[in-house]
Amino acid sequence: MADRLATLLDAQQVGGRRFIVSSPVIWRFHGDLVTRALGGGEPILVADGERFKNLQSVSRIYEALIRAGADRGSTLVAVGGGVIGDTAGFAAATYLRGITLVHVPTTLLAQVDSAIGGKVGVNHALGKNLIGAFHQPTVVAIDPLLLRTLPRREFRSGLYEVVKYGMIASRSLFDLVAGQTKAVFARDPAVLVPAIVESCQIKADVVSKDEREGGLRRILNYGHTVGHALEAVTKYRRFRHGEAIAYGMLAAADLAVARGALADVDRQALVRLITQLGPLPPVGDLPIDDVLEAVRRDKKVVHGRLHFVLATAIGATVTVDDVTEEEIRAVLVRLGLKQSRD
Ligand SMILES: NC(=O)c1ccc[n+]([C@@H]2O[C@H](COP(=O)([O-])OP(=O)(O)OC[C@H]3O[C@@H](n4cnc5c(N)ncnc54)[C@H](O)[C@@H]3O)[C@@H](O)[C@H]2O)c1
Ligand SMILES: [Zn+2]
Repeated sequence: MADRLATLLDAQQVGGRRFIVSSPVIWRFHGDLVTRALGGGEPILVADGERFKNLQSVSRIYEALIRAGADRGSTLVAVGGGVIGDTAGFAAATYLRGITLVHVPTTLLAQVDSAIGGKVGVNHALGKNLIGAFHQPTVVAIDPLLLRTLPRREFRSGLYEVVKYGMIASRSLFDLVAGQTKAVFARDPAVLVPAIVESCQIKADVVSKDEREGGLRRILNYGHTVGHALEAVTKYRRFRHGEAIAYGMLAAADLAVARGALADVDRQALVRLITQLGPLPPVGDLPIDDVLEAVRRDKKVVHGRLHFVLATAIGATVTVDDVTEEEIRAVLVRLGLKQSRD
């Protein structure tokens, strides 16, 4: 697929000069293929890693574009994971008030999540994803073969988001990952392609109905209330994003069962699947009060009330706005977090 990139862009009438943004690591693995597919041209390489998702990297992209004389008709092709996609995407959204953007996502997380939906942006020293814009890509070219070089832990991190799509919208997607875990890990396209396609469809469907995050788009945040808090209290160092979301989904399912909103067999199926996908970093040393504080600080607290997405079955959700801190505390106790701060 990636080898047919030029044809694909031509077919979508993505004209003008094409500028590639990637990272040294990704370029080492896949640079030859992408260069062959798109023809010549030096890529603009910026370091990937969450630390480099900042305005300085954006500035380096602007500089390369200006020096090369990129104009309004130029296209920026982001080849990388979520960090490159978000950073290059923000540069494309703002350079000359916006040029055409193409995503070639190279991580599973980017293929099923960050490359879809039009959110682009970078971190600020005072917080994650605080600077950003909405800028829809003209083309998202997804090639599962690019995932062959992805470290297993990164692959798993993306897989938890696939499980999330199953939980919120598709029992069959959930069952596919649960029933074919071995083939999924072998990155067998016969299983991976349908899983990626359905994940993208679910996200695209939700986003197209609610591009600017009014309400519906919130269901994509299933598992993210507790997940984000776990990432924050560990300063984004302990968990890969998907791993934190895995805990968040377990918490949300537990909370739903406690309220009588979800059948316990469904919660058990989720626990089984998450266990089956591999070990998660420990949480036993994390004080519950710290996590609750992080939940409160999270942007999902609207007018002091906590919006919370609950699965009511595998494949169905409801958003409630009356979740109390006590309920979350009880769930965190059951997840095995630390009950005192010392
Ligand atoms: N815009 C959105 O809607 C959205 C949604 C979800 C997440 N995100 C953002 O995405 C970022 C996380 O993205 P990510 O998980 O893709 O992480 P990442 O971009 O940091 O990539 C993870 C690691 O994998 C390496 N890598 C990438 N592709 C590879 C390949 N094919 N082979 C070998 N190694 C490869 C990278 O060098 C990096 O070390 C976060 O900054 C998050 O905020 C954005
Ligand atoms: Zn996520």
